[in-house]
Amino acid sequence: MAVIIPSNLKNISLINFVEEIAQLATPDEVYFCNGSDEEYQKLCNQLVINGTFTKLNEERWPNSFACNSDPSDVARVEDKTFICSRRKEDAGPTNNWMDPKEMKTMLKGLFKGSMKGRTMYVIPFCMGPLGSPLSKIGVQVTDSAYVVVNMHIMTRVGDKVLAQLGAEGEFIQCLHSLGAPLEPGQKDISWPCNPTTKYIVHYPEDRAIASYGSGYGGNALLGKKCFALRIASAMAKEEGWLAEHMLILGVADPKGKKTYVAAAFPSACGKTNFAMLIPPTDMKGWKITTVGDDIAWIKPGKDGKLHAINPEYGYFGVAPGTNADTNPNAIAALSKNSIFTNVGITPEGDVWWEGLSEKAPTNVLNWRGELHDPASGKPVAHANARFTAPGHQNPSIDPDWENPNGVPISAFIFGGRRSTTIPLLYQAFNWNFGVYLAATMGSETTAAAFGEIGKVRRDPFAMLPFCGYHMADYFNHWLQLGRNLPNPPRIFGVNWFRKDSNGKFLWPGFGENMRMLKWIVERVEGEVSSIESPIGWMPKYEDIEWGELAFTEEQYDQVMEVDREAWKNEILNHEELFSRMFDRLPKEFFFMRELLLSGLWRSPEHWSLAPEIH
Ligand code: OXD
Ligand code: MN
Repeated sequence: MAVIIPSNLKNISLINFVEEIAQLATPDEVYFCNGSDEEYQKLCNQLVINGTFTKLNEERWPNSFACNSDPSDVARVEDKTFICSRRKEDAGPTNNWMDPKEMKTMLKGLFKGSMKGRTMYVIPFCMGPLGSPLSKIGVQVTDSAYVVVNMHIMTRVGDKVLAQLGAEGEFIQCLHSLGAPLEPGQKDISWPCNPTTKYIVHYPEDRAIASYGSGYGGNALLGKKCFALRIASAMAKEEGWLAEHMLILGVADPKGKKTYVAAAFPSACGKTNFAMLIPPTDMKGWKITTVGDDIAWIKPGKDGKLHAINPEYGYFGVAPGTNADTNPNAIAALSKNSIFTNVGITPEGDVWWEGLSEKAPTNVLNWRGELHDPASGKPVAHANARFTAPGHQNPSIDPDWENPNGVPISAFIFGGRRSTTIPLLYQAFNWNFGVYLAATMGSETTAAAFGEIGKVRRDPFAMLPFCGYHMADYFNHWLQLGRNLPNPPRIFGVNWFRKDSNGKFLWPGFGENMRMLKWIVERVEGEVSSIESPIGWMPKYEDIEWGELAFTEEQYDQVMEVDREAWKNEILNHEELFSRMFDRLPKEFFFMRELLLSGLWRSPEHWSLAPEIH
């Protein structure tokens, strides 16, 4: 099939890429996406006709659609995700690896004819603001119209990107196919995918991605986890910057002074809620603004500071649990021009998910399209149901979220879901201890997919499924970066999820986390004191602004407790992670581990009530 190249496409490598894939995958036609609103509307209408999309009630959900995926295609497939570096050692022990030549041969077989009966869409997209020196361009070819419309929301797409790419510009090749060719006359289904074969493959040296068999989320919207984290982290290592699984938020104090922080949390730790936090009403004058909710690209500037952009343009957020109390900004962001995947749909064209309101509406169809039966115990929405919503619809969006120079980062925050051991808030002694803290962070599993529920899964920097190279090299990269910064950002650990012995959360979380953020910002500015504990600096009870929150000193001591026995075990458990990457682990880590262990021998009376102030 001859590909008709549009007149504004001058980039020979791109033309070659498109022609090569068209020849291999043999789609019925090739369509170059221009990124216009008309294109978006046309494709959404087509998805409605195809039975993929349900148009929602226009009055209540303007210009919004919902759909259900195939039950085999509901989440990222980590066990089918590969980093195919030339040498196995460079992918490291935490990634699946296969020889790139072998992988390419195998995938060639799968992609051969895989787009038969379908349209191949070519999506030029930009990760980061157009024109920013921190941004990068990708081109995704895909046979999924659902992917195209989601990419419209999640990235900057179309002609403006082609113009920026020009004739000579470099781009990341992103190849995607649903793996569901149609024979002549064969009727399409509402969620085509390959129910049995899925591969998400990265070639870090070629800077290319190939994804086969899935139409869902991070498997298929290749700008997000595949490009902006796995490929970008490998590029960042080479080029001296950071591609991180972090939200970016601005904290404005009552005088209007803005401090930006970046924070990493594993999945299922309320990252989007934190990125869009609304301070409690008694903290007058404090304001949080959102730059990004999931990914940060961070580069050292000539001014010695770290500058961060959000490479994304929208939110692909987890719907269940999102409501007007937990995250009013997300609710506003998704109130129009949004796409919902695997939520419940009512005959009136409303959507619903667990936690949106107290009770499921009557007659709601669950994500499998069945009439919901409250007695069945089956949920309405899939636990990983998503909304795709434009970033600019978030009322807390930061005025500088598209600043081509990014925003200066003053602090990093790392947190997991830990019911014991880890205190609510502490500050690492210095950059190196902060890197150690982040490298050893863990989170308790909430989904049985990772084995036993409630087991601590080490998730260094929340990057375990997203680091595109050897994890220990990544630690070294962080240490090296800090050596070159005159005044590196301060590093903090948080844990919103600690529980008492009855399994009750000790900390209310959500908006109240603002009280912790205030201390963090004041520490960055050197305005507030702390206590030296064996694991880092900690706020004193009186240094936290409690306002109207009834939180006693006793409760505080409980949620901040550093239990020596528990910490001894915690630090000894780091060995499990270290032993997997022993050959490349930074030597600093061994010394820091010993120092932390020996610090625990200091009797608690001497530190928890320590008079010294730092
Ligand atoms: C996500 C994740 O979907 O981290 O953002 O799993
Ligand atoms: Mn994420």
